[in-house]
Amino acid sequence: MMKFLFLFPFLLSAADRDWPTYGGGPEGMRYSLLTQIDRSNVAKLQVAWTFDTGEGRGDMQTQPIVVGNVLYGLTPKYRLFALDAATGKELWRFDSGVGGRGPNRGLVYWADGKDRRIFTAMQSFIYAVDAQTGKVVEGFGNGGRIDVRENLDRPAEKQSIVLTTPGIIYKDLLIVGGRLPESLPSPPGDIRAYDVRTGRLRWQFHTIPRPGEFGYDTWPKDAWTYTGSANCWAGMAVDERRGIVYAPTGSAASDFYGADRLGDNLFANTLLALDANTGKRLWHFQAVKHDIWDRDFPSPPTLVTVTRGGKRVDAVAQTSKQGFVYLFDRVNGDPLFPLASARYPASDVPGEVAATTQVLPSKPAPFSRQTLTADMLRGEWAKSQFAKIRSGGQFVPFGTEKETVIFPGFDGGAEWGGSAFDPQTGLLYVNANDIPWTAGLAENKAGSSGRKIYLTSCGTCHGEQMAGSPPSIPSLIGLAEKRDVASLSAIIRQGAGRMPGFPSLSSAEMDALTRFVLNGEDKVLAASESPTSPKFRFTGYHRFLDPKGYPGVNPPWGTLNAINLNTGEYAWRIPFGEYPELGMNTGTENYGGPLVTAGGLVFIAATNFDRKMHAYDKRNGKLLWESVLPAAGNASPVTYQVGGRQYVVIFATGGKARAEEKAGGVYVAFALPQ
Ligand code: HEC
Repeated sequence: MMKFLFLFPFLLSAADRDWPTYGGGPEGMRYSLLTQIDRSNVAKLQVAWTFDTGEGRGDMQTQPIVVGNVLYGLTPKYRLFALDAATGKELWRFDSGVGGRGPNRGLVYWADGKDRRIFTAMQSFIYAVDAQTGKVVEGFGNGGRIDVRENLDRPAEKQSIVLTTPGIIYKDLLIVGGRLPESLPSPPGDIRAYDVRTGRLRWQFHTIPRPGEFGYDTWPKDAWTYTGSANCWAGMAVDERRGIVYAPTGSAASDFYGADRLGDNLFANTLLALDANTGKRLWHFQAVKHDIWDRDFPSPPTLVTVTRGGKRVDAVAQTSKQGFVYLFDRVNGDPLFPLASARYPASDVPGEVAATTQVLPSKPAPFSRQTLTADMLRGEWAKSQFAKIRSGGQFVPFGTEKETVIFPGFDGGAEWGGSAFDPQTGLLYVNANDIPWTAGLAENKAGSSGRKIYLTSCGTCHGEQMAGSPPSIPSLIGLAEKRDVASLSAIIRQGAGRMPGFPSLSSAEMDALTRFVLNGEDKVLAASESPTSPKFRFTGYHRFLDPKGYPGVNPPWGTLNAINLNTGEYAWRIPFGEYPELGMNTGTENYGGPLVTAGGLVFIAATNFDRKMHAYDKRNGKLLWESVLPAAGNASPVTYQVGGRQYVVIFATGGKARAEEKAGGVYVAFALPQ
């Protein structure tokens, strides 16, 4: 059927001309049958329209959706809008009043006859909005919205859940995960399905099993009552014909010290295949046992079809932060490339028990490097540092004496942009980061205080000295000049952008913390006033960057890969991204996904520093066209056809760019000249 459509593109259905789902369709293939833009003419692409949200910088990461002749997107402050997809002219705008900042990767569209809805996440709320008018659908949930902090058997107002990746539709169900805090307290990462008409909860899968449920014995007895996360934040895929939803999960909380969650911790770091009608588990694959490295599954799965022994096999491909591609039979979870078990060292941190073995895919080869070795070091700084850190490859537990190398780093390997699959050729396109980071643990000496709460809850991001890591994480030095206790407490309780909220700090803890942050005063608390303080804390996310800000490892620092899923071999692999001032093709960190078309092209922006949108020949990775965006396109593009014209749209925000680089909030549409 697919081949047939390729030969006769005029037979495309309306849906084939749209981009109706985050990831392109329920399978998450990021594949389009459109062929108007092809290898022969892509060099002529030009800007057809731009839509400036006018809200400035935001690490938004939104991939818009397109249905009919309407494009739906989000502004950096979480306003939902509808545009004429051919001209970029605004049709309507919806402001929930909740607002927000930081990642909000997309939207959900659902229709039944005349009832056409957009589901949009605003922090912990999901709103149903009429796709034609932009008005709230009052009959959904509580006056048009539901609150995903509810129904977790924990006090809703004390939970922090933010929907950074949109849910997915199966029949009349909206299935969602969410982003949760990575340290305790954190709610359980249950996967839930809501009725699209009423907002009623229809099923719920406990990712942290309760007594009597499968996997319960992989945790301490009462862990389900106090531990959290094991959440699906990166998005899901649905096999509509079979009624199966695939949900990859992240680590359990706290993510770096697991003494209170000894055991393998199912279903953290697991690819789950659930019955989409009922939420019942069909099969699962746990990629990391007892994760103490934050090795979340960072990408949505991609449903593919591969050839095995002359037969077609429906499979699910899942990429990882470690740089692995796992491939499983979609129905029974059988691995399509062998998995091998390997042994790993024990943890020397008191209370911690690391898993002795982990399972690794034998094929395809990893798309990022695995171990930092002396021959890879770049420059004197790197050599001087290398003697002070431990480097042993994957799954070496963090210690308290030296920092440990994590390679690829905390941001992969693969990231949230996901992978694109070309059903014509069996090639999977994956962009990846390829730089090491380092990290370690430090003991929290007995008792709690303002400073200690800061170090455990805030220091992991804002740094031990409060200097942050601008522009992505602000410095808190001199904060008293711009914030008072009330405004600081509000941010701490609610979170902001990528910062999670801390709604469950006691008032004594909040008092001590705000005194410390604003005045440096270190008020000591009695044990009863600060119950959740862990014994060891994480010392921070440290990219292995030299004093000039460049990775201390030889390039490539970022790559774009085409992997043949029939054979497990690489079709091609290129450095991806540039630091403009170096004038070299080093590859750089990149965030945002690819898309592939029947027209023979891979479109991707993603590169952090050169602000480019690119089109590659999908057969060989040859660059056929590029264009400099108003800000780096740290988001995933879409393509669609309206009025006989094919467009490619990317949201340019500069969300991951350096402070001095241009940022913004502009949707840019490209098309061939008319
Ligand atoms: C996961 C990383 C992370 C953690 C943990 C975190 N923050 Fe943040 N914080 C951020 C980021 C990112 C921002 C910027 C948010 C935005 O505006 O988009 C921020 C913003 C802030 C701001 C606003 C800064 C300004 O200039 O107005 C304050 C204040 C703040 N954080 C305090 C804290 C405190 C106190 C804690 C601990 C209770 C904390 N943060 C924990 C990442 C974090």
